[in-house]
Amino acid sequence: MKSAVFATLATAILGVSAAPAAPAKRATSAIDDTTVLNFALTLEHLENAFYSGALAKFSEADFASAGMPAYSHGRFVEIGQHEAAHVKFLSAALGANATQPCNYTFPYTDPKSFAALSMTLEGVGVSAYTGAAQYITSKAYLTAAASVLSTEARHASWVAGVVDKQAPWSGPFDVPLGLDSVYSLAAAFITSCPSSNPVLPVKAFPTLAFPASAAPGAKVTLTFDQGNSTGTLYAAFYTGTGAEYAKIDASDKSVTIPKDLVGTVYAVVTTNGTMSADTNTVAGVAVLDFSFDSNGKLLA
Ligand SMILES: *[C@@H]1O[C@H](CO)[C@@H](O)[C@H](O)[C@H]1NC(C)=O
Ligand SMILES: *[C@@H]1O[C@H](CO)[C@@H](O)[C@H](O)[C@H]1NC(C)=O
Ligand SMILES: *[C@@H]1O[C@H](CO)[C@@H](O)[C@H](O)[C@H]1NC(C)=O
Ligand SMILES: *[C@@H]1O[C@H](CO)[C@@H](O)[C@H](O)[C@H]1NC(C)=O
Repeated sequence: MKSAVFATLATAILGVSAAPAAPAKRATSAIDDTTVLNFALTLEHLENAFYSGALAKFSEADFASAGMPAYSHGRFVEIGQHEAAHVKFLSAALGANATQPCNYTFPYTDPKSFAALSMTLEGVGVSAYTGAAQYITSKAYLTAAASVLSTEARHASWVAGVVDKQAPWSGPFDVPLGLDSVYSLAAAFITSCPSSNPVLPVKAFPTLAFPASAAPGAKVTLTFDQGNSTGTLYAAFYTGTGAEYAKIDASDKSVTIPKDLVGTVYAVVTTNGTMSADTNTVAGVAVLDFSFDSNGKLLA
């Protein structure tokens, strides 16, 4: 109970919860460095395909006529080159073990929706490297991962702040996501993969959707398949290195979103209302974006 009280106090004082960190420790024997690097490469292939596809489709003029700075096209080209370099680096490190690119589908239709998805993907990349760091044993790979992570964070900040005119960060800490949570987010864009790719020890959860009315303090109805779960379910909102929880009403799957959430928040449905992790996640991950101005005030 002590930690619950502390979490409540911390929530009141800091605006973020000090509840336990999101990613669960796993049996580390199952996850060696080859697996972590291939997991990272899975994401880098996805990002690489995302930028190369969009930039083959949209010209500088398309960006300008969508109301974005014309030079942003060149910056996105640079970001795409970084992702290609990450693919090359990880592929070289993995040698014959390297996972190969899949086929993908990305739901953008114009430069604006491309930029919005870019912000989401870069944020997921940051949370993926942050959450996976604990599994890397080689100091050289850990250093390389830190170097990639900070670059992805620069991408995320630039897209959010300059292109999407939103807050360039969510707070003092980024969310460390578990491997299954990250894979659940990535899997939504993957349509098929080479059958020769290594099978990674990750799974995608059933999807979780929030209505467009989702906002801090709002009562909303969630859409998800609860499978075999019969007990009380909670929505966990991963924010910073902690999480906030809200009980889901079993009769109509409604939940009240905690009122002090800001920035990018990752939400899951979980059976554990104090210590959510991949191991007790029922559905997710939903990406919620509660943008705020330079006075910390939520934007409508
Ligand atoms: C492939 O992965 C296995 C298992 O981790 C490792 O023993 C082997 O050295 C790796 N091969 C290459 C070329 O990296
Ligand atoms: C990707 O899609 C193409 C066209 O449908 C198909 O020929 C190819 O086998 C797919 N590749 C993978 C890796 O699934
Ligand atoms: C539900 O439980 C059964 C029996 O334990 C299991 O075979 C099945 O995979 C479960 N389904 C889901 C969605 O978890
Ligand atoms: C939630 O997870 C924690 C840590 O694993 C555990 O101690 C606690 O019993 C769990 N609560 C429920 C309701 O399962």
